[in-house]
Amino acid sequence: MAGQHEKGYFTEADSAEVVTGRNANAKDERLRQIMDVVIRHLHEAVKEIEPTQEEWFKAIQFLTATGHMCDDWRQEFILLSDVLGVSMLVDAINNRKPSGATETTVLGPFHVADAPAMENGADICLDGKGEPLVIHGKVTSVDGTPIEGARLDVWQANDEGFYDVQQKGIQPDFNLRGIFLSQANGGYWFRGVKPKYYGIPNDGPIGAMLEKLGRHPYRPAHLHYIVGADGYEEITTHIFVPDDPYIDSDVVFGVKESLLAEFAKVDNPERAEKFGVANPFWEVEFDFTLAPK
Ligand code: BEZ
Ligand code: FE
Repeated sequence: MAGQHEKGYFTEADSAEVVTGRNANAKDERLRQIMDVVIRHLHEAVKEIEPTQEEWFKAIQFLTATGHMCDDWRQEFILLSDVLGVSMLVDAINNRKPSGATETTVLGPFHVADAPAMENGADICLDGKGEPLVIHGKVTSVDGTPIEGARLDVWQANDEGFYDVQQKGIQPDFNLRGIFLSQANGGYWFRGVKPKYYGIPNDGPIGAMLEKLGRHPYRPAHLHYIVGADGYEEITTHIFVPDDPYIDSDVVFGVKESLLAEFAKVDNPERAEKFGVANPFWEVEFDFTLAPK
């Protein structure tokens, strides 16, 4: 048929040009551009690697197993993107913010869309396990103006390193999650537990890949935040425990210096009573800065 072999028959030398040539009539220009780049780089990689048929079939089996591992509560492809540094790269490309805004980092697979709204001061730890933690701070605009009504969606793992969604029936639903609104002075505060480092799920193909590559599966202790307000760019970020043993080798490359918080150990019965926590406790002050849209 006319036009079928516009770039000629397939050869090793011309492989990428022949395949991308077939997409000339794509109905979506952005899709055509994306697929041209993906095809070019994929063919380049295959030419450099020169896989055997068995090796290529192993790659197919790896991707198949990654898909089979996914369900409503498990997203193995996000893990793959995370451990290859692609999630952080996409984040960096999409968050070239004016200086001054709080830096962003990975979302991860454990965010839940419908976490409960809570009053400032609420305890997101529903089962009372772990060392008590009080977190407070302000949400301001890059020019320093306090932002009232900013939404802070917070989630964290428990003191054993598991999220509620990983331990259904063991932890209460929505344990260690909450949505807070900043007050008139931009202030927010809540209670939680001191987080601990944890291994990302390693019972699937991504865990097996890390093991074979001699990589550990750990993330340094952190709390997750999505912070947004009307008229401002939303940020997805964390705060990290700075003296964590994995702070310099996060398996998903999510650590940024500006996100290291100070976790102060407080032994002060009056202050504990003021916050409504047992003494001693951990206290963190961390401010968030948003850039206008
Ligand atoms: C998390 O921090 O929840 C997370 C991020 C990336 C992969 C696995 C977990
Ligand atoms: Fe996490």
